[in-house]
Amino acid sequence: MAEKKVTINDLLDMKRRDEKIAMVTAYDYHTAVFADRVGMDVVLIGDSLGMTMLGYETTLPVTMDEMIIFSKAVIRGCKRPLVIGDMPYMTYQVSIEEAMRNAGRFMSEAGTDAIKLEGGKHMAETVEALVKVGIPVMGHIGLTPQSMAVLGGFKVQGRTAQAAIDLLDDAIALENAGAFFILLELIPAEISKVISERLTIPTVSIGSGPDCDGQLLIFHDLVGIFEAFTPKHVKKYANLSEQIQNSFKNYIKDVKEVNFPTAEHSFTISEEEKKIFFNLLSKREE
Ligand code: KIV
Repeated sequence: MAEKKVTINDLLDMKRRDEKIAMVTAYDYHTAVFADRVGMDVVLIGDSLGMTMLGYETTLPVTMDEMIIFSKAVIRGCKRPLVIGDMPYMTYQVSIEEAMRNAGRFMSEAGTDAIKLEGGKHMAETVEALVKVGIPVMGHIGLTPQSMAVLGGFKVQGRTAQAAIDLLDDAIALENAGAFFILLELIPAEISKVISERLTIPTVSIGSGPDCDGQLLIFHDLVGIFEAFTPKHVKKYANLSEQIQNSFKNYIKDVKEVNFPTAEHSFTISEEEKKIFFNLLSKREE
């Protein structure tokens, strides 16, 4: 029997009973199937796919059409986890109308359960409008990659008392606007703890310490595919980049040395058909 789908209410219940929420990004069908099979609670189709899947340097070039293609693949593989689609750059900032149209595409074309957008107080009105038309919204504050140019790079946020208070106010504004979940990215652990305690809705941390209601890692970091550097907040649970490269190297060697394929990987025809074939061939070539 299929396991029951994780709902927004389940996440709230998990916060109430202090059960941590496990969340990962996924961008393709097979990763989604694996996440589903092992009991991941939430899957995010992050616009980080700009870097992890498309080779861009930032998330900024990612389009809504690209997000929809990857989201559809993930949805096909995820039965149990709650699946959230990440609104790409400039698909929700210009107007509430555009935010609704694009968030609606995630829900109706791709089939996600909710959407995520970046920003605090200044996005509260948009969040409220989306929730009013039935689109569940996850907030995202702290280091918000779509604003990297203004934030001045990949830096921990909320390191002064006033900046920390501003983050708390952002989180409260998102909760009041109707967000069901908030991602806290690169915020000092003590501040994330206070924010998480002050909210009724659950928080999830990426680089914001252990006291949020859940944890999120980017798939490529978690399994060790991203190899340029390992950010401080990442724990690698595998070293797939090494394993994939070793398997490619061994394959190349086998091909060059004619060790692959062997009889085990090849197909044959019967002796009788073979005889007829060579007879026909020699007649043709007479
Ligand atoms: O795009 C993404 O994957 C994100 C990360 C910060 C989790 O938003």
